[in-house]
Amino acid sequence: MGRLIIISNRLPFSIDHEGDQLTLRQSSGGLVSAIKSYIESDSSKNRGFTEKLWAGVADFPQNEWTVVAEKLSGRDFQIIPLFVNKLVYKDYYNGFSNSVLWPLFHYFPNLVEYQAHYYDAYVKVNRAFADKLIPVLQPDDTIWIHDYQLMLLPEMLRTERPDITVGFFLHIPFPSYELFRTLPTECKSSLLKGVLGSDLIGFHTHDYAQHFLQSVKMILGVDSNFHNIQYQDRLIKADLFPISIDYKKFNKACDDPETKAYYREIKNNFEGRKIIFSVDRLDYTKGLMDRLNAFDHFLEQYPEWREKVVFILNIVPSRDDIQAYTERKQQIEQKIGTINGKISTITWQPIIYRYTHLPFTELAALYKAADAALITPLRDGMNLVAKEYVASSSGKRGVLILSELAGAANELNEALLVNPTDIIEVSKAIHRALTMPQEEQQHRITLMQQRLSDYDVIKWVSDFLDQLSNVKAEQQKQQVK
Ligand code: G6P
Repeated sequence: MGRLIIISNRLPFSIDHEGDQLTLRQSSGGLVSAIKSYIESDSSKNRGFTEKLWAGVADFPQNEWTVVAEKLSGRDFQIIPLFVNKLVYKDYYNGFSNSVLWPLFHYFPNLVEYQAHYYDAYVKVNRAFADKLIPVLQPDDTIWIHDYQLMLLPEMLRTERPDITVGFFLHIPFPSYELFRTLPTECKSSLLKGVLGSDLIGFHTHDYAQHFLQSVKMILGVDSNFHNIQYQDRLIKADLFPISIDYKKFNKACDDPETKAYYREIKNNFEGRKIIFSVDRLDYTKGLMDRLNAFDHFLEQYPEWREKVVFILNIVPSRDDIQAYTERKQQIEQKIGTINGKISTITWQPIIYRYTHLPFTELAALYKAADAALITPLRDGMNLVAKEYVASSSGKRGVLILSELAGAANELNEALLVNPTDIIEVSKAIHRALTMPQEEQQHRITLMQQRLSDYDVIKWVSDFLDQLSNVKAEQQKQQVK
C-alpha cells in the first residue's frame, strides 16, 4: 500500500497569533474530524498507508512556514502548504467558490454573483494545487480530493499522470440540472470534466449523484449505466457515501468530568425549563431567519410555554467578509432582539444567543442537556449537527426536529421532519417535541443511534477507499480484455 494524500481547500489546522506566539488549532468541520478518527482507527492501521500527506491552502504567510513545520513535527500528516496570492485567493474563495458555486448548489440562484475574473482565479488556484502536487506524486498514491473548491483538480492531475488513483468527494448538494445549467457554458462543462478526472466520485445522497449524472449526460453527452460512467475509455463510478460522525466520541462525551460539570451547570441554570438547542455556521443556507420566525410563532400559539422554555442558539462565525453573510448576521441579531424584547420577563429570556466557536466539552454538554434540537437548514449537503445530537443522547431522551431538505433527513427518518420554511409546521413540531412521551423519544433515538453506530465515520472513510480500490481493479480488468 502506498501513501494517502488528502487534498482540501483548508489545511487540517489553522494558526492563531498571540503576540509573537503561534499556536495551531484543529480546523473545525466534519472532514478534519472524520479523517482524524479514521487515522487513529484499526481500519486505517490495517490498510497500512506508508505515509499520510495533506495538501491545502496555508492561512499563514510563507515566512512562518519553518516555525509552523516545527510545531507540526510528529503529527499524523505531513503537510503540503500552498501559498496563494491574497487577491487571487479572495476571488477564488469569496468569489467563485462562495459567491457562485455555494449559493447555486444550495438552490439560492438569486445570490449568485458570477464574474469572469472569479472563475479565472478558481482555475488559477486549482492549477496551483496541480503544479505543487504533480512533482511529488508516486504511482501507488491514493489521492482523495475534497469539495466544491477543487472541482477542476482531478482532471488537471490526470492529464499529467494518467495512471493515478483519484477519488473526489462533494460535501455539499449537487443541484438539479436545471440549476447547474445556468452557469456559463465553458465553466459548467469544465467543472464536470474536471470532476471526471477522478476514478470515484462520492456524494452524500442518491439524489445528488443522480443530478450529477444527469448534468454529465445533458451537458457533455456522456451516458451512465447505473452508477458507472465510461468516459475517455476509462470506467468512473459516481456513488453515494453519506458522511457520518465519530459515534463513540459523542456517545461517550459526557463521561468526561469537565463535560459532566458543564452539563450540571446548564441544568441548574435552567431548572424547571425545557431547553431547545441549535448550533450552525453563520450561513443563509441554515434557515436561521425562518427558524426564529417559527420560534416566535410557537411562543404566540402556545403561550403556556412562556417562561417554561429557552432556545439556546449558537452561531459559529463564518465567511464574514462576504456581504451576503454580514447582512444576514445583522438581520438575525435584530430578530432575536425583537423576540426577546417583546416577551422576556425580569427572570426569563426566551432566546440565549451566542456568536462564537464552541469548545467540544461545551458542545457535548449542550447536546446532552437539550430536550430538543432544532435543525432547520433550507438546504444542507448532510448536516452533522443532527447526527451529533442523536449520538450524544446517552439517556436516550431528546427529540430531533430536522429539515427535510438536509441530506441527513434520508437517514434520520425518526426525527420530526419539517419543511423549514413552513413556520406553522415547525412551531407545531416544537410543541410536539416538548410534549413527546419519554418512551416515544427513546424509541426514536434508539433506532437512529443504531444506524449511526453501524455506519460511523470510520466506515465512511473505509467504504470510500474500498470502493476506490474496486474501481481501479475493474479498470484493470477492462484493460486486460
Ligand atoms: C462546508 C463545506 C466545507 C467548508 C466548510 C466550512 O462544510 O462543505 O468545504 O470547509 O463548510 O467553510 P469554510 O469556508 O470556512 O471552509
